[in-house]
Amino acid sequence: MRIYHLLSLTLVLGLFGLGECLAQPNSITPAPNIEVWGQEYFDASQRLSLTFTGVEGDDLIYLRRATEELGLSLKEAKRPAKSNYLALSIVPLEDIAEASTFESFNEGYLLDITPRGIAIKATTPQGLYYGLQSLKALSLNSKQLTTGHICDAPRFEYRGILIDISRHFRTKEFLMRQMDIMAELKMNRLHLHLTDAAGWRIEVESYPRLTSFAAWRMPDTWKEWWYGERGHVEMGTPGAYGGYLTKEEARELVAYAEEHYITIIPEIEMPGHSDEVIVAYPELGCSHKPKNQGDLCIGKEATFEMMQSILDEIIEIFPSEYIHIGGDEAGKNTWPECEDCRRRMAEEGLESVDELQSYMIERIERYLNARGRQIIGWDEILEGGLAPNATVMSWRGEEGGLAAAAAGHKVVMSPHAYCYIDAPQDAPYSQPESIGGYLPLEKVYSYDPAPEGMDKSVSDYILGVQANLWAEFIVTDDHYETMLWPRAMAIAEIGWSNAERRLFADFRLRAVKIVDRMLERGYKPFDLKNEIGNRPESLEPVEHIALGKSVTYLYPSFYYGPKYAAAGDATLTDGLRGTWTYADGRWQGFLGRGGVDVVIDMGEVTHIESIAADFMQICGPGVFMPCLVEIFISEDGQEYSKIADIEHEVVIDELPSFKSFGWQGSAEARYIRYKAHRSKYTGFLFVDEIVVR
Ligand code: ACM
Ligand code: ZN
Repeated sequence: MRIYHLLSLTLVLGLFGLGECLAQPNSITPAPNIEVWGQEYFDASQRLSLTFTGVEGDDLIYLRRATEELGLSLKEAKRPAKSNYLALSIVPLEDIAEASTFESFNEGYLLDITPRGIAIKATTPQGLYYGLQSLKALSLNSKQLTTGHICDAPRFEYRGILIDISRHFRTKEFLMRQMDIMAELKMNRLHLHLTDAAGWRIEVESYPRLTSFAAWRMPDTWKEWWYGERGHVEMGTPGAYGGYLTKEEARELVAYAEEHYITIIPEIEMPGHSDEVIVAYPELGCSHKPKNQGDLCIGKEATFEMMQSILDEIIEIFPSEYIHIGGDEAGKNTWPECEDCRRRMAEEGLESVDELQSYMIERIERYLNARGRQIIGWDEILEGGLAPNATVMSWRGEEGGLAAAAAGHKVVMSPHAYCYIDAPQDAPYSQPESIGGYLPLEKVYSYDPAPEGMDKSVSDYILGVQANLWAEFIVTDDHYETMLWPRAMAIAEIGWSNAERRLFADFRLRAVKIVDRMLERGYKPFDLKNEIGNRPESLEPVEHIALGKSVTYLYPSFYYGPKYAAAGDATLTDGLRGTWTYADGRWQGFLGRGGVDVVIDMGEVTHIESIAADFMQICGPGVFMPCLVEIFISEDGQEYSKIADIEHEVVIDELPSFKSFGWQGSAEARYIRYKAHRSKYTGFLFVDEIVVR
């Protein structure tokens, strides 16, 4: 499937002023896999004769509508014209010679622009639709189209976005707006996270309290709700916040998606993340108590009756082959205490709570398989043994996905480090409050779900890639759009364009243009032109005289935590300053009651003029500044004198902050002891480098 075209490279180089003047603006995103541009033009500003060959039924309606968005003057004709035409035709695969260079051409298209007209050929209506999206990217740019030849098909069959409408409800109209952009980017899966503790969002006639009660809450924001009582309220209660998709709205969404060649994959979470289900139907929790239970009781038949009944209604609305059944982050702590769950385990010979969860997932899989559907679930469904036909969505990393693929299961990759676009996309201090971290466009774009060297027996099972946009901290639609775009564009290109066709600098130029056009259309994408970028200190290694010097950690019991060890004992003098996120392998995290207490051995008595280290604070995940830093020096390592005492009042705030704690002066010393004290807030201290000059 890897196709490399020299001319395309020339084109890319041309962008940077290195190549000959190839006039065609490189304006198609995702980058086409084969493109060859000529030297002539076709004037598409005149009236063109539009023909459809081999297209019927609803597809004809969808494709006609898609041609209306090209910004061209078109008149439909019965027969193809000899000149000034836009001809769309379904052709047999054999008629597209280059198609054999792709693993699948189901979604592929051929786009030929000659001085006489434009021809789009494909083997499916979806292929024609994507050809039209490419033409639209060109024709909205200029009506003077450079002659050229594009033969294009996606690298991966699954190119998706997860939209979370549980934490804060989003309307049908909002989802349609996002599908418009997805379709232009040739994305074909919309994973709707419909259910979670914060609210149930889809009408289910057989269990009406899911929407008359579990879909409504107070207060509005997830943050206040989650850190408060986490209560739900009856629909219609004054101040009730929430909402849900009626069946009719969901069907309209499905129809809209179909018109855009997008499949909506509904997610019904089980057995975890089900607090709202248990709030509405307490008998489905192990303890029958409506509060503080996230896991459905797997011992009770009522749970299966309910889930199956819900799924009956779901598959009646959503034609998707895949139904997402969640499976992530079950607490699994009520099951061992529950008589029903224990009986189930004994009867079924299940030896662990993981196996109990797998019992449920497998049973639900059998139920859905019997109805012609397949399950997809988060990578935790591997833990107690994977259901025989399940597809895995790998989120905690890539390991789950790779293990599933190696075992012959299909996989969608959405690893947290690259695909969780709920992290801020620019310097966190410049962004609204979020879940934390730092995931700029470039990092998303750097992801490759099946990198060079991956065994084909594994990569063959990788269906594709998905961006996940969880909405805990995203209250408004505008904010949601800002988080989604342009990072989901990077996912679109990763999913479509072969690795050899991808170059970030080129993609970024195109993304800036798409963002500009989205802004003109009233969308609220993050404006890349204003991007601040990574933490300046992290861009280049820092030079200082303690570089590579040995560091002794004085309080082993308050040692840096294993998850945030960074480069271990070398971290604080390795010259690498941290980025905006503590999870970058540069910041070292100290957990426990003590703090940071280390001694740097300079090797010999050295003249020293400054000593400083940076700390960060992100209150959400419990990362705080120290309340006091003390710095001591010694010539012999026995007797120390204190040279600095820096107090700091730790204040809880919403945005991440960074602060240097240091000393300046003039001293002679071999040993430097740097001691940072934890404040009254329990959590991490994170430090990246002790810079000595
Ligand atoms: C997940 O992020 N819990 C799938
Ligand atoms: Zn139970």
